[in-house]
Amino acid sequence: MKIHKKLGRHLLVPVALGIGASVSGVALFSHGAGASTTSGSASSGSTNSVTYGGTAGSGNAPITYLKLDPSTIGLGKTLFVENCSSCHGDTAEGTSRAPNLQGLGAATIDFWVSTGRMPLADPTIQATSKPARFSRQQTLAIDAYVSSLAQGGPAIPIVNLGAASISAGEGLFSTNCAACHTITGVGDALADSIYAPSLYPATPTQIAEAIRTGPGNMPRFGTGNFSDQQVADITKYVQYLQHPNNAGGIGLGHVGPVTEGFVGILIGLGSLMIAGYWIGGRAH
Ligand code: HEC
Ligand code: HEC
Repeated sequence: MKIHKKLGRHLLVPVALGIGASVSGVALFSHGAGASTTSGSASSGSTNSVTYGGTAGSGNAPITYLKLDPSTIGLGKTLFVENCSSCHGDTAEGTSRAPNLQGLGAATIDFWVSTGRMPLADPTIQATSKPARFSRQQTLAIDAYVSSLAQGGPAIPIVNLGAASISAGEGLFSTNCAACHTITGVGDALADSIYAPSLYPATPTQIAEAIRTGPGNMPRFGTGNFSDQQVADITKYVQYLQHPNNAGGIGLGHVGPVTEGFVGILIGLGSLMIAGYWIGGRAH
């Protein structure tokens, strides 16, 4: 116990340092959060919706839906028969190898093809995102063909980031997405061979598609869960996680203010542990 007492006194300096460091960690964090909010409002209004296929987001609607061009259905059918039919059947009706795609809606088809998950190479493991096989035009043609076969499902969302709020998105993200994708969006293993992927490569359209369609083991968040405004807010926050440096955070790795906060917590915890050890030592 004598040793502990001695140690205790020696630890006073590290403890003081630790507390100092954790205070500055907290300061860094609040600085980061402040920076994110300011830049959020500064950039809103200037960013307009990301558009594909020539349809612009109209007015102030947080999400508009892409109207697919019926004249591309023929091209889409050719591409589908060459690349998808062997598993999904000629009219996407499904086979013993792969599910029926009819009535899923353009957003689901678009998500799986544009993230490179389809066409699938190895049906025994979780489909992963990889470089897309098709150009944007070809992908939209496949979307047009499959969604022409049956009604139903969500259309392809175009997110109006200018009408979205990073801070509202941050709250929604931490309660609804972080448990699987982590608070920084880097992704994590969920169970044997199932993982929630990194969100860094996803485009705004793919983020909104994932939320609305719930690919694979991800839950689906319909209009009863989130309004279009909330989907746009989450999408804007994920974009912010992808490019924190643009929003004034100090780049530690890839995640800016969130890591700074985390580092603050780590240092804080470290000093708490030292303090606990020190107090424990004194109690004897
Ligand atoms: C080698 C066989 C194979 C090929 C080729 C293939 N798929 Fe698939 N596809 C699958 C399997 C198996 C699944 C189910 C995988 C899963 O849920 O992880 C699937 C799932 C999908 C889904 C998700 C369905 C759902 O219920 O959410 C879509 C959309 C899809 N495929 C579209 C396509 C398109 C479009 C092509 C062609 C560009 C294609 N696939 C080519 C085997 C294939
Ligand atoms: C229960 C766990 C879980 C929750 C909660 C969850 N996801 Fe996912 N998410 C997944 C899984 C698993 C996948 C991969 C699906 C697949 O490939 O089969 C995924 C895929 C994605 C992708 C596609 C990434 C890529 O590969 O390009 C995006 C974007 C995404 N999620 C965003 C979100 C957002 C935003 C939320 C919150 C609104 C959320 N997720 C909530 C598990 C989850």
